[in-house]
Amino acid sequence: MPLTPVLTQRFGTEQPWRIENYEHLDGYAALRTSLAMAPDELIALVKESNLRGRGGAGFPTGMKWQFIPQGKNGQPSGPHYVVVNADEGEPGTCRDLPLMMNDPHSMIEGIIIACYAVRAARAFVYIRGEAVHAIRRVTQAINEAETNGYLGQNILGSGFSCQITVHAGAGAYICGEETALLDSLEGKRGQPRLKPPFPATNGLYDAPTVVNNVGTLASVPYIVRGGAAWFKQMGPDGSPGPCVYSVTGRVAHPGQYEAPMGTTLRELLELAGGMSRGRELKFWTPGGSSTPLFTPAHLDIPLDFDSAVKAGSMNGTSALMIFDTGDCVVRAIQKWSDFYLHESCGKCTPCREGTYWYAGIYQRLENGTGTEEDLETLLDLSDNILGRAFCALGDGATSPVTSSIKYFREEYLAHIEEHTCPFTTARTLASAGARAGAAS
Ligand SMILES: Cc1cc2nc3c(=O)[nH]c(=O)nc-3n(C[C@H](O)[C@H](O)[C@H](O)COP(=O)(O)O)c2cc1C
Ligand code: SF4
Repeated sequence: MPLTPVLTQRFGTEQPWRIENYEHLDGYAALRTSLAMAPDELIALVKESNLRGRGGAGFPTGMKWQFIPQGKNGQPSGPHYVVVNADEGEPGTCRDLPLMMNDPHSMIEGIIIACYAVRAARAFVYIRGEAVHAIRRVTQAINEAETNGYLGQNILGSGFSCQITVHAGAGAYICGEETALLDSLEGKRGQPRLKPPFPATNGLYDAPTVVNNVGTLASVPYIVRGGAAWFKQMGPDGSPGPCVYSVTGRVAHPGQYEAPMGTTLRELLELAGGMSRGRELKFWTPGGSSTPLFTPAHLDIPLDFDSAVKAGSMNGTSALMIFDTGDCVVRAIQKWSDFYLHESCGKCTPCREGTYWYAGIYQRLENGTGTEEDLETLLDLSDNILGRAFCALGDGATSPVTSSIKYFREEYLAHIEEHTCPFTTARTLASAGARAGAAS
């Protein structure tokens, strides 16, 4: 499959994170072009490109920018903010960190352009605290951009001034939810806010705020340089552009693969060297653990925002976790349920209590003491969480549970009837056989 990398085009070149190398490869050319345009022209360009947010929900970026109240004659009555969501906590997702490590300036250039478009003088990059390497790399790149006149006062003599601050989160998955992130940034406990009002009108410090993902903003300089028509050539009309897919699990070469939106798992598997253990594909997530499972029947579904929904799941964070016929689906969902229990912020009852019940039932099922009634309780719990939880974390926790029961009910029943995990038994027999073979 022929690929033309866009977001990852500088990966593998000589120290692409250094500003002189970035500039050498057309870096900050889009900022010069942008500063010669009117802010509203830039918003119109991003709208025209149909860029959709890469953070998970796929919200149209230009529309989000346009929601920011622009004040009289383009003069805002108070501060505006741009906040970059670099929390990247969704299981299986690993593309914002490689982007920030390899090419931090494309994100920074995108942030400055976004600030200029929405008349913000201040941006924050919220990076999870464990990613000390990325915090250092981005901070260093911001310092370089300041030294070279791309940040600070009167950028490139345009009269526009802008500052970027890096903020280290404390490593909570819920702080990736945009309003919990804003509370965390304000120094409060990270819990979601009631919406509406949305961040576009009442965001950081109650001021109009754009919250965008790293990959969304890193795409902006390319749109400014290449134009909306060029961007729309890649992938389907409704959700075009390049996408970095994280492919992990039972594949020969796990990693990040950049391809146009709408690439299928069949094509991505080819890029990743196929399955790793000589076994067949059993199930997979198209966009992280919060998206309903797919099976081999979905190998040819185009992985973009609209097609994935049509096929019963979501594109989410484009994190494909691949499982083969040697993997136990109940055990996989047990692991994710433990994760959601740990990460539930506790603000609302359906998610706080539901994830606790999920985890207990999965423990029973996996250790062989589950019952058929447990299966019905799992579905009943899911009904009571989905659409009733305060934020999308709760909804996401139900996705692997309901989709796995839909596709693999027989495997759940086998756990119940055999009073053990059939995969554990198979593993035990295999290793006992291997030990006996070695002894003889
Ligand atoms: C529990 C939860 C975790 C999230 N984590 C992230 C994250 O780590 N990074 C991200 O960009 N968006 C995350 N999101 C989505 C954000 O709320 C928001 O939609 C996104 O940052 C908007 O940026 P975009 O329009 O550029 O996609 C998360 C949402 C939820 C419900
Ligand atoms: S669904 Fe409720 S308890 Fe769960 S993370 Fe969101 S607000 Fe917190």
